[in-house]
Amino acid sequence: MIQPDSYVRSLLQRSPGERVTARGWVKTHRDSKNVHFIQLNDGSSSVDLPIVLDAGVVPEDTVAKITTGACISVEGELVASMGKGQAVEVKALALTIHGTADAEHYPLQKKKHTLETLRELGHLRTRSNTFAAVFRVRNALAVAIHKFFQDRGFLYVHTPVISASDAEGAGSMFQVPTLDLEGLGKSGKSPDFTQDFFGKRTYLTVSGQLEAEIFAHAFANVYTFGPTFRAENSNTPRHLAEFYMIEPEMAFCDLNDNQDLAEAFLKSQVEQVIDACGPDLDFLAKWYDPELRKTLDGLVNASFERITYTEAIALLNKSGKNFEFPTEWGVDMQSEHERYLTEEVYRKPVIVTGYPKDIKAFYMRGNDDGMTVAAMDVLAPRIGEIIGGSQREERHDVLLQRIRDMAAHGLKEEAYWWYLDLRRFGGVHHAGFGMGFERMLMYLTGMKNIRDVIPFPRTPGNAEF
Ligand code: 4AD
Ligand code: MG
Repeated sequence: MIQPDSYVRSLLQRSPGERVTARGWVKTHRDSKNVHFIQLNDGSSSVDLPIVLDAGVVPEDTVAKITTGACISVEGELVASMGKGQAVEVKALALTIHGTADAEHYPLQKKKHTLETLRELGHLRTRSNTFAAVFRVRNALAVAIHKFFQDRGFLYVHTPVISASDAEGAGSMFQVPTLDLEGLGKSGKSPDFTQDFFGKRTYLTVSGQLEAEIFAHAFANVYTFGPTFRAENSNTPRHLAEFYMIEPEMAFCDLNDNQDLAEAFLKSQVEQVIDACGPDLDFLAKWYDPELRKTLDGLVNASFERITYTEAIALLNKSGKNFEFPTEWGVDMQSEHERYLTEEVYRKPVIVTGYPKDIKAFYMRGNDDGMTVAAMDVLAPRIGEIIGGSQREERHDVLLQRIRDMAAHGLKEEAYWWYLDLRRFGGVHHAGFGMGFERMLMYLTGMKNIRDVIPFPRTPGNAEF
């Protein structure tokens, strides 16, 4: 096992003269007269560790196996480096090959590969500079999110992955049957879900919000951070069938407090990742988005614009733009509209509130106008919707009526008995939101396809690895 002081990242910080062991995978191997130059990495650093191996230190047949992708360990001495980018390098005294990577077949040779090609190589792309940077940022972002909420006294709650209710009332859920579907198909009978594993139909959760609301009615401020699943057939660069969502839920919280928290949350994440991952962000900026640093600083320094849905539609209507999808009060905004508002009108994140109730989920608090709900979407340049949330309907009779009105859309009153109970026993006004973890990562890394910020993307027709 690699000890903390022996990661490539740590070795690069240590001083000439120290004896060290470096372990990892060969990035490149170049021969010069009587010397072999090897670049080594173990995933911990955006800078490779240079190894200098003099001819004769190891047998020639070992040298031949030091190819790109091979796994090796090297014992040696740190010496001052003449090269650019690092202060020290390892002068090798002994070298062991753990796993070879035949140069003729190893797909990740030194040349630059397209992101599409790397996606087909999900088992190896983790060793490329790009994905090493992306997944280090992903790691740092997860830590930053926990830190943000823990510093504010929020309770971290694990909500179930298997669920019997549709948290969004949108009907795009993956089913979890254990019944003999093949046998049923042959018999021509329809499935009897009372005989299924849970005695009823169950699904993979689309959101942990409803269960988070239970916890908010006991711990006041809580958050979830877990996988969620959507069986929408959306083959876009911004949609996954399996993604991670962070959902804070706060008792004694209205829509204004909710917006304040969302803004502080996004800013804190960007600040913390800038602190933790400077070299990775510079790498990503260089190869994928020269404007990256500007965009990130822009978010930290901006005061988010706050407008209503009605104002947004008016802006879109007078934009003179030729949108693919028409804009009309009552119709949901598309990504092109969200990007117009954030990239052209305001050039910063925009929080849109007060959406028509017919295009939003059943749990959102009804506004006095009878037509809109206390919803909020946070839109960001390049990404569009990054956060969706609302103040929740805490009035028992209003919520019950809303669920009944939605029966035609498949909402089953009996599935929500416990959700309604929260409004009967110690209810309070409360609010929360959900942030798509991968949407935020797209923002932070400059990656344009959501498949490139999650280790193993699940999208329609694709569940490899
Ligand atoms: O707007 P959504 O559907 O809201 C909810 O699920 C609420 N229950 C959240 C809450 O109030 N607690 O999803 C929230 C966010 C979106 O803004 C988006 O960032 C992300 O989740 N998201 C997706 N990310 C990737 N792929 C998908 N298919 C996504 N669907 C939503
Ligand atoms: Mg949404």
